[in-house]
Amino acid sequence: MSMATWLRYLTAALVALGVVGGALAQQPVATLRDGTPLDQNANPPTIPQVVNSDLRQVRNYPEQPPVIPHKIDGYQIDINANRCMQCHSRAAIEVSQAPMVSITHFMNRENQFLASITPRRFFCTQCHVTQVNARPLVENGFVDIDTVLEDLARRQQGAN
Ligand code: HEC
Ligand code: HEC
Repeated sequence: MSMATWLRYLTAALVALGVVGGALAQQPVATLRDGTPLDQNANPPTIPQVVNSDLRQVRNYPEQPPVIPHKIDGYQIDINANRCMQCHSRAAIEVSQAPMVSITHFMNRENQFLASITPRRFFCTQCHVTQVNARPLVENGFVDIDTVLEDLARRQQGAN
């Protein structure tokens, strides 16, 4: 490579670097402050409300622990008390009109039915959760099994 060609390559490379570097320099650095000046406080987003509609929600599949459609603020669940069972136990539902915990909540790990709630299901919020009226952070492409079955049936009809 002659000296002149080499210099031309070098110049081209430096110009390209300059262009890329300039573009990078213009991009703001992402921070949690999101552009708020250092001497000011940002407005935090509002805390979403817990859904308290009292309307039982559809389950996405039969084994899903149903989500809780009411507030559970301050409900105690420990060795002394289980606030949830004060409404959801077999004996309580006549007064509370809550759905009774299902029979699986009485089964031990040998599938024997116990007289009262099984220890495996004592801590309700291990499996049951409230919902908030927030926009999901990520999109969800979940498709209900009924839709899958309908699609399948339609495709099989088309094939016949
Ligand atoms: C004051 C009574 C009461 C208490 C306490 C209570 N619930 Fe409920 N729960 C209800 C009633 C009534 C419903 C029916 C829907 C409604 O009215 O909210 C319900 C609905 C539910 C459902 C929906 C069931 C379904 O099939 O969709 C779940 C799950 C649930 N509660 C879990 C809990 C958990 C877990 C706790 C404790 C953290 C709890 N509940 C405490 C009264 C209560
Ligand atoms: C280990 C997970 C787990 C725990 C802990 C648990 N549940 Fe459930 N629950 C489920 C699942 C799964 C279902 C749906 C299938 C079924 O009935 O087993 C369900 C169903 C329910 C239902 C609907 C029953 C019906 O027939 O519609 C209620 C109400 C409920 N649970 C309340 C409770 C309460 C109250 C507690 C705490 C005392 C509790 N659950 C603890 C997993 C759990």
